[in-house]
Amino acid sequence: MARGYFGIGVEGISKPGNMGSLLRTAHAFGASFTFAVTPFLDTREMHLVDTSGSENSIPFYTYPDVASLVLPADCCLVGVELLDEAVDLPSFRHPTRAAYVLGPEYGALSPSLAARCQFVVKIPTRFCINVGVAGALVMYDRMVCLGRFAERPVRVGAPPKGVAAHGAGTQKVRNRQRNIAKGSA
Ligand SMILES: C[S@@+](CC[C@H](N)C(=O)[O-])C[C@H]1O[C@@H](n2cnc3c(N)ncnc32)[C@H](O)[C@@H]1O
Repeated sequence: MARGYFGIGVEGISKPGNMGSLLRTAHAFGASFTFAVTPFLDTREMHLVDTSGSENSIPFYTYPDVASLVLPADCCLVGVELLDEAVDLPSFRHPTRAAYVLGPEYGALSPSLAARCQFVVKIPTRFCINVGVAGALVMYDRMVCLGRFAERPVRVGAPPKGVAAHGAGTQKVRNRQRNIAKGSA
């Protein structure tokens, strides 16, 4: 498990299917809370889509407007939007304590919410993708960056046996990986 925590939410969401799918994915990736700012949806339908039953395990907050959005004091708000000036997600260092916020199906993050974000990140795609998919990619990227996994090997395939889950590995394995990279193993 990575240190810290994260929450994820959407502004102005209107399709219960998208919100339910995001809640289910957030539950699976270990989100600490989820939220919706100015939602326009049937929450009953949303919970039907979220077959993981996240409402029993993760708090879901709704805020009627941007001004009422409250986060823990040390929680960094990160906007997710396909904007020229946004930071490419693969180049972004995730904050230890973060709340990610996505925009509505038909539009983008409002200027007032974008102004509250400390960072805005974009997934380098040719055009906008589904909001639930965008949220899933952000959570996956966070897990890859902050999770404790063995490093990817130099060669195609799985890491050699014995590589520690946090990527440190034993000295013997590290030497072997170096030799493989140099072509001498
Ligand atoms: C379907 S998109 C919004 C529609 C879009 N503005 C359009 O009409 O072309 C919904 C939300 O998904 C997120 N999103 C979709 N693609 C994205 C990308 N490539 N990078 C970052 N966020 C993205 C953003 O939060 C966006 O507001």
